[in-house]
Amino acid sequence: MSKLFEPLSIGGLTLANRIVIAPMCQYSADEGCATDWHLIHLGHLALSGAGMLILEATAISPEGRITARDLGLYSDENEAALARVLEAVRQHSPMAIAMQIGHAGRKASSQVPWEGGAQIPPGQPGGWQTEAPSALAHADGEVAPTALDREGLERVKRGFVETARRAARLGIDGIEIHGAHGYLLHQFLSPLGNQRDDEYGGSLENRMRFPLEVFEAVRAVFPAERPVWMRISATDWVPGGWDIEGTVALSRALRERGCAAIHVTTGGVSPLQAIRIGPGYQVPYAQRVKAEVGLPTMAVGLITEPQQAERIIADGEADAVSLARAMLYNPRWPWHAAAALGAQVTAPPQYWRCQPYEYKDLFAASRFGQR
Ligand SMILES: Cc1cc2nc3c(=O)[nH]c(=O)nc-3n(C[C@H](O)[C@H](O)[C@H](O)COP(=O)(O)O)c2cc1C
Repeated sequence: MSKLFEPLSIGGLTLANRIVIAPMCQYSADEGCATDWHLIHLGHLALSGAGMLILEATAISPEGRITARDLGLYSDENEAALARVLEAVRQHSPMAIAMQIGHAGRKASSQVPWEGGAQIPPGQPGGWQTEAPSALAHADGEVAPTALDREGLERVKRGFVETARRAARLGIDGIEIHGAHGYLLHQFLSPLGNQRDDEYGGSLENRMRFPLEVFEAVRAVFPAERPVWMRISATDWVPGGWDIEGTVALSRALRERGCAAIHVTTGGVSPLQAIRIGPGYQVPYAQRVKAEVGLPTMAVGLITEPQQAERIIADGEADAVSLARAMLYNPRWPWHAAAALGAQVTAPPQYWRCQPYEYKDLFAASRFGQR
């Protein structure tokens, strides 16, 4: 019996199996509003048989977008556009749908990746003044962000809360707070992004304060039976940066506040990062969080093979595997994994006749096959 295809409970949400579609920005929104691209993209991912689909990083405010094309959920127009997409997807898929919500901080105001991904300075089309814990640019030559003052922190927190309320109205099954990849909350955690001298900077406790306040505020307004969790970069891959010890401490503090899981990734806060990359290279970090914190963990990063995913779950290294690029490349990855591991996934009846045993044997026996 495959362990990968056993159900998993994350708080009050039960996933049919342990394959999670990682959040993936599409840079295809219009003023934060989902478009037909989202209908097509999410529609086909929702037919993949995975246990959960996490919607791309969804901005809590216009200035929190990585690019001007990011998905957002900060206006009534954004909410209506996403409602249209989700209603269509839900008609044809029972998959759990979560949403990653976040603010890009000093990494906002950028070009879309296929145009180079560089920062767009404020005042130029598609650019704006960024904001962050400290007025430190992400990379040399970039315009530095404005350091958030107390009023700014409250405004950002209100943005997370309003977005969570909108997500609840949309029937989103779970919220993942983006605390990773060098975006705003990660900038607070890492000494490389946070050099504040108030109670939000300095000690580990102080650097964790704002992400924890955001978590508490979101948890308080999202329906109690639906889970809220955080995606965390377990290391900055830079000496003197955020590390796995901080990640374990943060995960414990989140657990005390009702966090349902940790999605463990790495990197993103500094261009100086030296990542040691390879198959499943981030899994040991998820394993450490799982062992030391006891919360369900999602492991991500170059998990591409069904047997590899099965082993991660069967050996107890993580509770779920999260796949990004492999799902784009092969959106029926869970079907193939189920076939390889002797399991089953939910597939729409319109597609049932595609199962190879339905036609390969028939073909061999048919007069066409005998020629
Ligand atoms: C096209 C694309 C968009 C991504 N967008 C996001 C995102 O919105 N939020 C996030 O946390 N990670 C994002 N990521 C990172 C993935 O979620 C994942 O952590 C990373 O790609 C490693 O997993 P993989 O080896 O399975 O691709 C993105 C990755 C890709 C390829």
